[in-house]
Amino acid sequence: MKSLLPFLFLLATACAPRGGWTSAEKAIIDQPDSVMHVYTMPGDSAVLRAVSTDLGERELASEELKTLLAKMLRTVTDPSQDGVGIAAPQVGINRRIVCVMRYDKPGEPFESFLNIRIDSLIGPVSPGPEGCLSLPGLYGIVPRHQAAQISYLTPDGKPVTERVEGYTAIIFQHECDHLDGILYTDRADSVWTFNNF
Ligand code: NI
Repeated sequence: MKSLLPFLFLLATACAPRGGWTSAEKAIIDQPDSVMHVYTMPGDSAVLRAVSTDLGERELASEELKTLLAKMLRTVTDPSQDGVGIAAPQVGINRRIVCVMRYDKPGEPFESFLNIRIDSLIGPVSPGPEGCLSLPGLYGIVPRHQAAQISYLTPDGKPVTERVEGYTAIIFQHECDHLDGILYTDRADSVWTFNNF
């Protein structure tokens, strides 16, 4: 029986479910700093321009996900960033995760949205000002739809489909674009630097 143990170990390893965090993702999540390094253009274009993938069952059930969501929240609300939303590629993780300030809810809480997709864009398009933590010093005027239907999983794994409107809908459009490697400057009518403003 003893001689069978190495064989059984190999069998168990081979049968383990696929997926899980990559070693590179784990290294980022496990870094001791509570505020994460924010990836910026043009140096980090390989990550910021990549298309992000869904979280699988293993990542959804992991402690690493809880740690990552807490760190993304601390990062976007840190006085050095002071953003209204952040997407996982901006901290080096190409997964479909965004953290958004819900202007449409009492107390304007920051909430996390997993495996998120925009199902449809609704209503008229109108231009408005935008900035991005990954494009420091730049601002732009970006045409956005006034409402959107979105589908996602909550941090507890509950599937939700809802309609968001107004400024909240604009933040979701901006953050979901990040998951497809799109930056607001791709859509902007005009872009300027802070010094020229
Ligand atoms: Ni952004």
